[in-house]
Amino acid sequence: MPDVRLVNVTKKYGKIVAVDNVSLHIYDKEYFSLLGPSGCGKTTLLRLIAGLVHPDEGEIYIGNKLVNDVPPEDRDIGFVFQTFALFPHMNAWDNVTYGPRVKGFNVKKAETIGHEVLEMVKLHQRLDAYPNELSGGMMQRIAVARALAAGAQLLLLDEPLGQLDAKVRNDLRYEIRRMTKDLGLTAIHVTHDQSESMVISDRIAVIKRGRILQVGSPKELYMAPKSIFIAHFIGESNFLEGYVSSINGKQLTIELRGGTEIKVIQQNMRKGEGAVLAIRPETLVVEKGRKKKRNSMLGIIQRTTFEGTNIRYEVKLENQDLVVVVKPSMIEEWLNLGEKVTVNFSPEKIRVFAYPEAGLREELTVE
Ligand SMILES: Nc1ncnc2c1ncn2[C@@H]1O[C@H](COP(=O)(O)OP(=O)(O)OP(=O)(O)O)[C@@H](O)[C@H]1O
Ligand SMILES: [Mg+2]
Repeated sequence: MPDVRLVNVTKKYGKIVAVDNVSLHIYDKEYFSLLGPSGCGKTTLLRLIAGLVHPDEGEIYIGNKLVNDVPPEDRDIGFVFQTFALFPHMNAWDNVTYGPRVKGFNVKKAETIGHEVLEMVKLHQRLDAYPNELSGGMMQRIAVARALAAGAQLLLLDEPLGQLDAKVRNDLRYEIRRMTKDLGLTAIHVTHDQSESMVISDRIAVIKRGRILQVGSPKELYMAPKSIFIAHFIGESNFLEGYVSSINGKQLTIELRGGTEIKVIQQNMRKGEGAVLAIRPETLVVEKGRKKKRNSMLGIIQRTTFEGTNIRYEVKLENQDLVVVVKPSMIEEWLNLGEKVTVNFSPEKIRVFAYPEAGLREELTVE
């Protein structure tokens, strides 16, 4: 069964270390995403698994078999690329049944598979259409159908939804996941879009500069980011700087710029140490007026943006820091520009990190 295991895999292009000592276990029948900014090495990782490039160091196993020396065509992998890689001179039907035919299946079997997968991607009506007669979303569904029809148990998808408009992209996320689950496939999906990886994946590996920073379920990455970068890259966070002014058991008091003290629960910090608080915008509570109390700060609404589902406030705090607060627009009473407000912090929802050695700005840099 196709689980995929990488052990200390490194791939260099001259001086560029595209993949830097990566170890990773993708389970059988898992929908797994490789997520990271442009140039972080996602495609290279996928090409290593496909056998299109070779590692300088390390081992790659597919279903317990060491495949370092196995050519791509013998790895039994389906591949979907970002650009629509259909054969332009073949109609949808011929594109989809190409795999089974090349494999030498008899005509009847190839046709059965073709009908099944076209049914799955809901393009049965268009089997006579040539790629240039199909929309981008349709072409990509045909590309997925073609990969599925080839019968591989392991599907590699490189930014398969990258070129599609937002609505089609959203719908296709669910469809692709459903199809791979229905067929019991292992899928490895490359994307730089964190919201896409969140909705489509069982687990995600976040990659930066060729290295894996954290692997976890979407919920784990969102709720328990292990680094400032992950808190920044997955979802959205406010970052407030301060230092540990006192420690009482697990409770830390962080003094923020300007002197406001926030009490949080956290271990592994020392008194006097520089700290960064990571706070999700939806965990902040804003109230009209100035009601200074524990774990609160005064501020002024500096910008409001109506986003449909949510209303988004930028609040200038009294210490001049800016925080973003997001509230459900149909539920909350809206606040006005320039309004004086109190921002309340929920200590149990704040994550505290040691101030990064290279500085906060560098840590947050996406490239
Ligand atoms: N064939 C190649 N020759 C030289 N350098 C390469 C080659 N392929 C990739 N690289 C370099 O390796 C690094 C990783 O590239 P890769 O294509 O894996 O990134 P990526 O995460 O897929 O980026 P994107 O999101 O932009 O597709 C980059 O610095 C890139 O320039
Ligand atoms: Mg890429």
